[in-house]
Amino acid sequence: MAGPHPVGDPAPLDGLIPASAALGASTRDFGVYLHVPFCKVRCGYCDFNTYTATELRGVKQSDYASQAVLEVESAARILAESGVPARPAATVFFGGGTPTLLPADHLVRMLHAVRDTFGIVPGAEITTEANPDSVDLAYLRQLKQAGFTRVSFGMQSAVPRVLATLERTHDPERVPLVVAWAREAGLDVSLDLIYGTPGETIEDWRASLDAAIGQQPDHISAYSLIVEDGTKLARQIRRGELVQPDEDLQADFYELADARLAEAGYGWYEVSNWSRGTEHRSRHNLSYWRSADWWGIGPGAHSHVGGVRWWNVKHPAAYADRILAGHSPAAGRETLDEATRETERVLLLTRIREGIPVATLSALGRREVAGLIADELIDARAAIGGNIELTLTGRLLADAVVRRLLTD
Ligand SMILES: C[S@@+](CC[C@H](N)C(=O)[O-])C[C@H]1O[C@@H](n2cnc3c(N)ncnc32)[C@H](O)[C@@H]1O
Ligand code: SF4
Repeated sequence: MAGPHPVGDPAPLDGLIPASAALGASTRDFGVYLHVPFCKVRCGYCDFNTYTATELRGVKQSDYASQAVLEVESAARILAESGVPARPAATVFFGGGTPTLLPADHLVRMLHAVRDTFGIVPGAEITTEANPDSVDLAYLRQLKQAGFTRVSFGMQSAVPRVLATLERTHDPERVPLVVAWAREAGLDVSLDLIYGTPGETIEDWRASLDAAIGQQPDHISAYSLIVEDGTKLARQIRRGELVQPDEDLQADFYELADARLAEAGYGWYEVSNWSRGTEHRSRHNLSYWRSADWWGIGPGAHSHVGGVRWWNVKHPAAYADRILAGHSPAAGRETLDEATRETERVLLLTRIREGIPVATLSALGRREVAGLIADELIDARAAIGGNIELTLTGRLLADAVVRRLLTD
């Protein structure tokens, strides 16, 4: 989610990162995230860093790819000058906003820049997000030819009334079409769903799950709708125009999703993510959860290398100014101390299926294990075997489990 940036230290204009980031770098995967901060219209629930044409303060979408390419090139220089060993990208992810609002050849130029600058490991996962109404077969074929392996469509729901509340622009009938085109082009397919939209019933959600499963995607993400401050949705709820589903109904939605997806052969591997077989897990997202290194290109993008985290200026106009002046677009950064890195490790690993070894927890965290088993929040057999793995109830209460594991 976008929201305000964290409060950190100012980042230097040359973008150089502290030498500590290099420690152990050669043992960590490296990924590249490219943010495309444009949408045709803003959905009422969304607070991602994205801008419609009227919000761009004179910035042209058509200039964006060249600016992103400049940042890719400067990123490689900055890593080299900071003493961080060069590594080819194991994953590349184009996210938004709506990356597919740009012509396919713009995405291809950005991908080529990553390949020419960092290199891309053979068999790398290369994904773009796409809105169902923003691509056609020719577009997807062009991406595949350039090396993309995967497309993630924002389906959200199959129910017109729910899509209307979310202010989505696409017709639900478009989803089977784009999925078929993606398959024809040779791309893996992921579908994003949202549950808990005001007015959504359990039958609506079942229909959306069945419609998504019916497309036989390789991967499905199901997110509970977050009501972000400052969004139109938050205002509608505050004014009483829309009513949010309560926590019990949200839990019912989640349980239904997990049951339906499991029946259809999709296994969970992170609280909100399911795939057909381990080979279809999102390696890019797994690298975030495993605290690997990644460089985030574009306005508002976040990066992380060896415990140093930074974030770019948010507006595309400010970004263009920095890039065209030859400066780093980083607005702020922080170097995580050991305690914070440990907290993040527990927070992120607990939410994925492979879990977290009990032996790596603090003494106080280890003392919580018996209680977590008794409360049926973690799997007893796995815990006795030395690993924390969430049960279904634990997934519903993952934040509470994390809090207990981090007790101090
Ligand atoms: C930022 S969008 C980008 C992809 C594309 N623009 C789209 O909307 O399909 C990525 C995903 O984040 C999810 N998302 C965005 N805002 C959300 C919110 N407030 N609550 C839950 N999920 C959200 C949606 O499922 C969406 O598909
Ligand atoms: S299309 Fe995607 S990124 Fe754009 S406003 Fe809607 S949810 Fe946000």
